Amino acid sequence: MTTAEFKKTVLAGIPTELPALKEFDKTLNHAPKRKDILNEAEKKLALRNALRYFDKKHHAVLAKEFAEELKTYGRIYMYRFRPDYKIYARPINDFPHQSKQAAAIMHMLSNNLDYAVAQHPHELITYGGNGAVFQNWAQYLLTMQYLATITDEQTLTLYSGHPMGIFPSHKDAPRVVITNGMMIPNYSKPDDWEKFNALGVTQYGQMTAGSFMYIGPQGIVHGTTITVMNAARKISKSEEDRKGKLFVTCGLGGMSGAQPKAAKIAGLVSVTAEINPKAAKTRHTQGWVDELHENLDELITRVKKAVAAKEAVSLAYQGNVVDLWERLVKENIKVDIGSDQTSLHNPWAGGYYPAGFSLEESNKMMAENPAQFKKEVQKTLVRHANAVNTLAAKGMYFFDYGNAFLLEASRAGADIVNADGTFKYKSYVQDILGPMCFDYGFGPFRWVCTSADANDLKKTDELALEVLQDMYKTAPDEIKQQLSDNIAWIKNAMENNLVVGSQARILYADSEARIRIAEAMNKAIAENKISAPVVLGRDHHDVSGTDSPYRETSNIYDGSQFTADMAVQNFVGDAFRGATWISLHNGGGVGWGEVMNGGFGLVLDGSADADRRLKQMLFWDVNNGIARRSWARNKEALFAIKREMNRTPNLKVTIPNLVDDNLLEGLV
Ligand SMILES: NC(=O)c1ccc[n+]([C@@H]2O[C@H](COP(=O)([O-])OP(=O)(O)OC[C@H]3O[C@@H](n4cnc5c(N)ncnc54)[C@H](O)[C@@H]3O)[C@@H](O)[C@H]2O)c1
Repeated sequence: MTTAEFKKTVLAGIPTELPALKEFDKTLNHAPKRKDILNEAEKKLALRNALRYFDKKHHAVLAKEFAEELKTYGRIYMYRFRPDYKIYARPINDFPHQSKQAAAIMHMLSNNLDYAVAQHPHELITYGGNGAVFQNWAQYLLTMQYLATITDEQTLTLYSGHPMGIFPSHKDAPRVVITNGMMIPNYSKPDDWEKFNALGVTQYGQMTAGSFMYIGPQGIVHGTTITVMNAARKISKSEEDRKGKLFVTCGLGGMSGAQPKAAKIAGLVSVTAEINPKAAKTRHTQGWVDELHENLDELITRVKKAVAAKEAVSLAYQGNVVDLWERLVKENIKVDIGSDQTSLHNPWAGGYYPAGFSLEESNKMMAENPAQFKKEVQKTLVRHANAVNTLAAKGMYFFDYGNAFLLEASRAGADIVNADGTFKYKSYVQDILGPMCFDYGFGPFRWVCTSADANDLKKTDELALEVLQDMYKTAPDEIKQQLSDNIAWIKNAMENNLVVGSQARILYADSEARIRIAEAMNKAIAENKISAPVVLGRDHHDVSGTDSPYRETSNIYDGSQFTADMAVQNFVGDAFRGATWISLHNGGGVGWGEVMNGGFGLVLDGSADADRRLKQMLFWDVNNGIARRSWARNKEALFAIKREMNRTPNLKVTIPNLVDDNLLEGLV
């Protein structure tokens, strides 16, 4: 299809005549069949809801077809309406548009649905098994049409993928406001997602899926490298001593697949279990994992050899992780670091596979006998935790990888909770990312060159490197390690060939670094040194955007970790300080009802407006969270916010008075 035809098709929105039916493409990775949760009246409602996107003359045909989709897949995806053109992050000017900002948003959302990037592209799922960009293809078509026609005086409103419409606003307003999965709190249990998603009225946007900010595996390679490297630093200070240490974990999926790559960068021997042969093969073909083993005997021999030879090598076990852990216990092998990245945020719908069943048997049981499936998962989780406990007692450092492993294991009745109600193990945010990064304002700052030109990306890398190196010269000791880790990362980023999909980059930076890098890029665009707008954004897994008591805010200890004011304040504050689009999500990472997270996109076009917006918005976007973390008495955040107040005269943050705990003894 030519670019002109593509533009015409986008502008046409939902076609007036029915496109031909599409064959189900078996070569692609598809979402599992979802639970059959609706009663008869609700199924009719789901059909009525789906049909409202289409002219009445098509209802007879589509009603039958959608009823069949609901029966076969548990959802109505409207497969017939999947466009014939290839969806990917095209150069910005290839998208029909009235507003450059809107074209940049099309570039970003298209990337989330690119076959090379998305986990289940035909079901509009980007990652994490249920991280949806839209609920169905009608929403996609309509949103693209709206974005192609919107001006800089309008704002598009997206309700869980549904484009409610474009409303008059002004040039400093966001072009798009996204909310995903906002529920009345009492209706936010996992089965509520199943039901209301099947009805077509809500979706699980994960973090960067429903907010159009996914940049493929790079984001996760960087974050995982920082985490695994610092986990290794926790058990051993010298690089030499870390060689040959054994790291055992699970998951070669969307995010989890970065673990073996990160472990190799950190110089460790790693074993990652993965039950799905397709996922294992993908990561092996990509070179993210060195060796695949199906046979546990052979694997164990290989592990012993690698540890003895202090080989930095990544091994994968194709099978159930519990079989691996139990075997390691039986063999009395010393595991130095342990973790888990199964999708336990989604335990009953394919996020975690029970031991003793093949993948196919499990998938069948999940759809046909969900109660039995739940029982088997819980039984497996108890065994899983027991094996971890045995190895931890022998010195293994275990951390929860923010996937709700400890939470679900405790709900399954595993021996994982201390007498005071806390978990036996810390999460990676409590031990690593919180105190070392988030509390200082360091978080996953990312950008995308909408020219889709690698030369632009190279220039932005150079600008970022200059800023970080300059900051390092005068940085306090507290943040030198973070800066030097990111200087090393950005220096090698181009050679490491991390781009999949859009021309994107990520690094961890604090408020000052984010602003200075963004200013430098905006200036370079104005001077035509960068050929097209750059989109700034971030992962929601950051300092301020996310309230998640078992993950991002798990190192908040004043009780407020169960509140979501920070994420909501962040979303609103970003909106009126100049974000081009903003999003607020229920769920993401640890699960529906368990987290509130928000993000933004900010388009740099070289203008003075962009310069003003970036300064205001990025400053707030980081310092909101540092202020909250310092109020929670986190010492690193207290350091960071006081430093920021010294730099910024019109910032005044309420500082906590610390209490001498002896005073409290005997009072209650
Ligand atoms: N990487 C990070 O920085 C990070 C941070 C926070 C949270 N997480 C969490 O990690 C989890 C994983 O994310 P993902 O995108 O990789 O999900 P995913 O679903 O793509 O991958 C998980 C993998 O685990 C495999 N698996 C499930 N149960 C198994 C079992 N019993 N034995 C062997 N393999 C099994 C699945 O087949 C799947 O491939 C999510 O809950 C996510 O929220 C990741």
